[in-house]
Amino acid sequence: MSQPAQHHAVFGHPVAHSLSPAIHAAFGRQLGIAVDYVAIDATPDTFETALARFAGAGGSGANVTLPLKEAAFALANTCSERARRAGAVNTLVRQGETWFGDNTDGAGLVRDLTGRHGLDLRGRRTLLIGAGGAARGVAPLLLDAGVSDLFVVNRTPERTDALADALGEPDRVHPRYLDVIGELGEFELIVNATSAARSGAIPALPRSLVGMRTAAVDLSYGEASVPFLAWARAHGARDTIDGLGMLVEQAAESFALWHGVRPDTDPVFAALQARNVALVTAD
Ligand code: ATR
Repeated sequence: MSQPAQHHAVFGHPVAHSLSPAIHAAFGRQLGIAVDYVAIDATPDTFETALARFAGAGGSGANVTLPLKEAAFALANTCSERARRAGAVNTLVRQGETWFGDNTDGAGLVRDLTGRHGLDLRGRRTLLIGAGGAARGVAPLLLDAGVSDLFVVNRTPERTDALADALGEPDRVHPRYLDVIGELGEFELIVNATSAARSGAIPALPRSLVGMRTAAVDLSYGEASVPFLAWARAHGARDTIDGLGMLVEQAAESFALWHGVRPDTDPVFAALQARNVALVTAD
């Protein structure tokens, strides 16, 4: 007997250029699973209505990207422990008449850094720049992966404090003002979780943050990741990693939640990386 058709979508704003539909289609082809996954543009004001319409039309699961991850957390009827710690949801699963919210971003990032890039995160003095939905998604999993200290800086200090409070580990998590970033010393892991490059320039960062062992990670991919990673490379960072691998890994986690089987991410990552390089080097 064939399975009832499942309908999935990614909600965001903007979302037209999202790679998620292509990634999920590739996973489906690999595993012989029929995938119906579309991109739906919604703003924080229209998201609730758009999600209700999607559920009414038989939507069985959704990804949520910027700027809707905190709104999705608020809309989810129940959620996973990691989504609760993040205060942000990137994956919704329809359960009867309700939505279950999860967050696969942090697991996706850690899997990419440790598995694909071979980094040992344990004991790393870590700086997280940003305190929005993306930062919230990855922070709990960085702590779980064993970083020694997590310093958090953000343009809006109230969000830094809110994130630090939500993480609930005052001995390891240190909220700091962006304007004292020059006094924080050197980090072995720096994660740029701001969307600054999409709206112009990245925040000014002192070179004193970077040492010979530093891994610099931007959660963005393509052109949006270039300014921060170029800055890190220019100051001698050992590893510079964009968010493409995390994107594929978080998608695989979401796919597994919906379909009960985890795809092989390597061929999908390789295909996207080739496309990404072409995107970045195009005029
Ligand atoms: P996302 O889901 O990508 O995290 P978001 O929740 O809108 O989207 O968060 C965007 C993050 O990028 C925030 O940390 C934001 O800082 P504020 O909390 O002060 O808004 C940060 N950000 C965006 N543009 C920035 C800029 N030009 N300089 C510094 N930080 C910026």
